[in-house]
Amino acid sequence: MKKSEVVSHIFHGHIPKTAKHEKGLGYAPTNIALCKYWGKRDTELNLPHTSSLSIALPDKGSMTTLTLNDKSSETIILNDKEIALDSVFAQRTKAFLDLFRANQKWYLKININMNIPVAAGLASSASGFASLVCALNDLFDWKLHKNDLSILARLGSGSAARSLWTGFVEWHAGVRPDGMDSFGEPLAFEWPELCVGILTMSSDEKPISSREAMQTTVNSSLLYNSWPRKVSQDLSIIKQALQVKNFALLAGTAESNALAMHATMLSSWPPICYFLPETIAAMHKVWDARKQGLQLYFTEDAGPNLKLLFLKEDTARVQALFPEVEIIRLFDQV
Ligand code: DP6
Repeated sequence: MKKSEVVSHIFHGHIPKTAKHEKGLGYAPTNIALCKYWGKRDTELNLPHTSSLSIALPDKGSMTTLTLNDKSSETIILNDKEIALDSVFAQRTKAFLDLFRANQKWYLKININMNIPVAAGLASSASGFASLVCALNDLFDWKLHKNDLSILARLGSGSAARSLWTGFVEWHAGVRPDGMDSFGEPLAFEWPELCVGILTMSSDEKPISSREAMQTTVNSSLLYNSWPRKVSQDLSIIKQALQVKNFALLAGTAESNALAMHATMLSSWPPICYFLPETIAAMHKVWDARKQGLQLYFTEDAGPNLKLLFLKEDTARVQALFPEVEIIRLFDQV
């Protein structure tokens, strides 16, 4: 099935043509998966093999502002700089807009402000596509349900399906070939004591995109066969840990899930390794600190940066260990 068919299905064949407001605004937070999405059952629709679960970073994300452009092409401004229309970022954005444009003749001025490094494994595409979908919903007054916005965001980037909400979100893999049952669902857990700290080893663009890495893994790693079983165990443990607020169980499972994902990449051919020497050194520091009794864990996505997981009461100890850590607010913390 094609992306355009999914879009047409959501709009019952009638995609609104006229902007209803002068401006369309959309903000979406980035999200960090505690149980990862890794591997697709449908590469066109970004349908995953497994469900996944994330926590949003509410203050780290993308703000998209849309206005109609008087030129017959898009203008894309990313963090106050106009970007070339032949860049990968612009091409992906344009291809996404084409899904809604069909053969209509509107073009947009797209202003995106992201306060996260682009393409450094901090889910910039997730918040980018989710905010773009919210801004389109506003501009054209689609009045779509959030499940549909999540499905549309997924067509841009899989993990964007989880960026429509704050807090914990589960993205259901779904079983339908058209993916109409594959969208995010916010989970009603709050955990104000939970903290995420970002350890940035590098903000450079990653050598291989998560999209390509995921595909190489699915196609070549024998270990990938065990990934769905690992995810199904981890998902149920994480949900149980959320229920009873067991931090060591939650964060330990998240760390193990991330390492298992990286193991599938290391066992791919050609091998994929996002670890930098600094990443490994930081992991050892975390493990040593844990031996000393500090409840500190990490997760890592398709990039060299670590996201530390710890409780608020341990903030000073974590900062002493990693003075460069950037601590992120997750809930309205007291
Ligand atoms: C490691 O959502 O960027 O961050 O669907 O191809 O756009 P595409 O992939 P993307 O992959 C994210 C992978 C991950 C894990 C996760 O966020 O669950």
